[in-house]
Amino acid sequence: MEIKKVGIVGAGAMGSGIAEVLILNGVDVILKDQNLQLAERGKQNVKKYLAEMEKYVRNLPEREIKRLEKYGIKLTGEQEKILRGNFPIPPDVDKLMKNLKTTDTFDDFRDRDLVIEAVFEEQGVKNALFHEISDYLKDDAIMASNTSSLNITEMASHYKHPEKAIVIHFFNPAYLMPLIEIVPATQTDENVVKSVMEFFKGKRNNRDEMVPIRAKESPGFVVNRILIPMITEAVKVVESGVADYETVDIGMKKGAGMPMGPFELADYVGIDIVYHVMESFRRDLGDFYMPPRTLKHLVDAGWIGIKSGKGFYDHRETQK
Ligand code: 3HC
Repeated sequence: MEIKKVGIVGAGAMGSGIAEVLILNGVDVILKDQNLQLAERGKQNVKKYLAEMEKYVRNLPEREIKRLEKYGIKLTGEQEKILRGNFPIPPDVDKLMKNLKTTDTFDDFRDRDLVIEAVFEEQGVKNALFHEISDYLKDDAIMASNTSSLNITEMASHYKHPEKAIVIHFFNPAYLMPLIEIVPATQTDENVVKSVMEFFKGKRNNRDEMVPIRAKESPGFVVNRILIPMITEAVKVVESGVADYETVDIGMKKGAGMPMGPFELADYVGIDIVYHVMESFRRDLGDFYMPPRTLKHLVDAGWIGIKSGKGFYDHRETQK
């Protein structure tokens, strides 16, 4: 089946990031949240991400001209025209935004070929959503979860067509991170996997072409299984007095080439998410994955990173 119309449930950071990637590629998207105000807030974020890209692409020729001038090269009018003509055309934000509608009801999802849910990361919430949405989607619609570590086979069993359920897991921020993990449930039809892989072929985000990889259903799939324990190992390093947060972040950026240190990343992704993913690993894989006490304390205190203003670092000043 060819996917043309997509519905996204949840207009938070992930939902709006996914919506942006899709409308950038001309896909017709409806973004749903519990009320229209939340959905509209997500839409404004989409516009912001697109506007950032538009500005970046629009400024590319100027940057190149300035770069050449630094080397003492002054282009003639004709040369400048040729240079400008060789840069990509910035995206037309208003035109792209026409592909994005908002809603607060699943009634608007009746013509969707694919729905991706990006709601609260809790198995019961996702199972209930897969059950509820069954009454609204057409029979050949694919129902996907953006879960980072929960059980898709269980979600699929709550959907009217379990063979059409699948994980499509984006990374944060979706408009900059090109990876997508595609994870079939036990019940998923192979043609559904093919349709989803085909759908992402040639699509891009603000920086790169999207890269879908296939993984088997298992806790954290590929990336989170490695990335999240790395973050908790960093917490243990600090807990055991080896170095402080800042030093560990410097070490991992300058010594291991990470764009963000583990504590910067935890604040960015959300310490609550790191904690819940580790808890799910502990349940599935054993006590080796027990989240360190510091994580629990931060979650209990509500200090869960950038979104709460405070986490491992204090973000309140930068948010003013
Ligand atoms: N195309 C190309 N380049 C662009 C661009 C575009 N559309 N827009 C901006 N740029 C350029 C900028 O101009 C800038 O170049 P300059 O320095 O020469 O001016 C350069 O790109 C860098 O821009 P930024 O400073 O905005 O961004 P960074 O390079 O610092 O990258 C980041 C930001 C991509 C978020 C990076 O910090 C990163 O990769 N962090 C790690 C994020 C990560 O690991 N995410 C996954 C988390 S796990 C997860 O999500 C799973 C979940 O389930 C928990």
